[in-house]
Amino acid sequence: MRLFIDTANIEEIKKAVELGVISGVTTNPSLIAKEGRVFQEVIQEISRLVDGPISAEVIGLTKEEMVREAKELAKIHPNIVIKIPLTLEGLKAITELTSLGIKTNATVIFSLNQAILAANAGATFVSPFLGRLEDMGENGLEMVAQIVEVFQKYKYTSQIIAASIRNPKHVADVAQLGVDIATVPYKVIEQMSKHYMTDRAVEKFLEDWQELEKKL
Ligand code: E4P
Repeated sequence: MRLFIDTANIEEIKKAVELGVISGVTTNPSLIAKEGRVFQEVIQEISRLVDGPISAEVIGLTKEEMVREAKELAKIHPNIVIKIPLTLEGLKAITELTSLGIKTNATVIFSLNQAILAANAGATFVSPFLGRLEDMGENGLEMVAQIVEVFQKYKYTSQIIAASIRNPKHVADVAQLGVDIATVPYKVIEQMSKHYMTDRAVEKFLEDWQELEKKL
């Protein structure tokens, strides 16, 4: 399973790139707004840091607006993937962008049926939002499991990005389910690296080494 970082924060992206564990970036309007910077400039800067798919989301609500924004965003860098919300207008936009050879990421997906529509429209990626569904007391993992099963059964080519990941357990769970990608906040990447037994082992190695040095 590949990992993307889910952020528009340049410092977090730099840190994740240095770790060598991410192969793409996802952003959304809320993540961009958090940075308080010009959208296109942030996306441009990310494209210089990461050699992999970079999702940038449209904010228009009609197909025409979405396609117009998408064409502008796609000019920024060949790695740009246009994130389109899964609405009827969004499906029309995905269909048109696919015919133009522009990659898309169907976003805010909360059901198997939405994912099936996105795959049939030709979306390059589909993004089921696990955490937000769980926030509502629903079974987010079950939705992801259904999507994985159906995509494998019908050999859909859209890649599944497990999104709205909130903790390391989500990452391990979606990996076991067989998604192609998990997009994770930097904080979760850090949490994934940690285990109390690792810390304990490193401390003990150092302690024993220092004991040896005293004797020599
Ligand atoms: C990724 O594509 C989404 O924008 C992101 O995972 C949403 O996460 P959130 O539900 O934590 O905002």
